Amino acid sequence: MAYFRNRFVQRIVVLTGAGISAESGVPTFRDKDGLWEKHDPMDIATPEAFARDPALVYRFYNERRNKLSSVQPNLAHTALAQLQSHFPGEVFLVTQNVDDLHERGGSEQVCHMHGQLQAMLCTACNSSSPATVDYNSISVCPACTSRGTLRPDVVWFGEIPYFIEEIETQLASCDLFIAIGTSGLVYPAAGFVQHARLCGATTVEINREISDVTELFHHQRQGLATIEVPGLVRELLQQA
Ligand code: APR
Repeated sequence: MAYFRNRFVQRIVVLTGAGISAESGVPTFRDKDGLWEKHDPMDIATPEAFARDPALVYRFYNERRNKLSSVQPNLAHTALAQLQSHFPGEVFLVTQNVDDLHERGGSEQVCHMHGQLQAMLCTACNSSSPATVDYNSISVCPACTSRGTLRPDVVWFGEIPYFIEEIETQLASCDLFIAIGTSGLVYPAAGFVQHARLCGATTVEINREISDVTELFHHQRQGLATIEVPGLVRELLQQA
């Protein structure tokens, strides 16, 4: 097992947000030049927006998925993968991100609570299939062959995130909760720090700046994810 700031640590939960992928060149949502500066999320990331203008929504998600081939995981992604493979206790990684950079950085366990760009969901049979090419309102579901029933397998505003029960179980039993690169503005993820604290965990935030929930954390490492995440992982593995 291991110690963090003289605290015994056996189970770690890591929550990541768009900030961990920023240095890979993936735009965040609310920073300068972020996605929500260019698009009103209510026009793109809600079931009502999809019903109103499916072509715009298909274009937005197809474009973001296609851009993934031009970005690479960064030192923060690879450091988390190292933590998952070398830490002597449990490490549960939950991400709000829909990119595949954690997986490409070496993480085998990744809980995508907001879904994934590289998956499409059929509204007829509710199955999720790999999105390897652009899809639209005349595409056919590979599972049930229905036509025109495919949507991005991404959790939109007003929808229930994936794996919430599993995440809450992990938060209730962890000794250390680490949040990386998230603004703490969107629930339920923004509430994870309070849940972990109430259950006795030590909490650490890594962010380039003060976030909406910084004051709820025991410890804050302010700086770039590619510097602070490897630094924290080294500290944890040295104590192991
Ligand atoms: N290193 C560390 N932190 C960074 C870096 C960096 N290089 N770059 C940006 N950040 C921080 C910003 O300071 C900000 O706090 O990352 C955070 C990004 O915040 P958002 O853009 O709001 O992204 P996120 O918190 O992931 O958004 C949550 O909102 O729109 C929904 O579904 C969407 O999953 C998303 C959710």
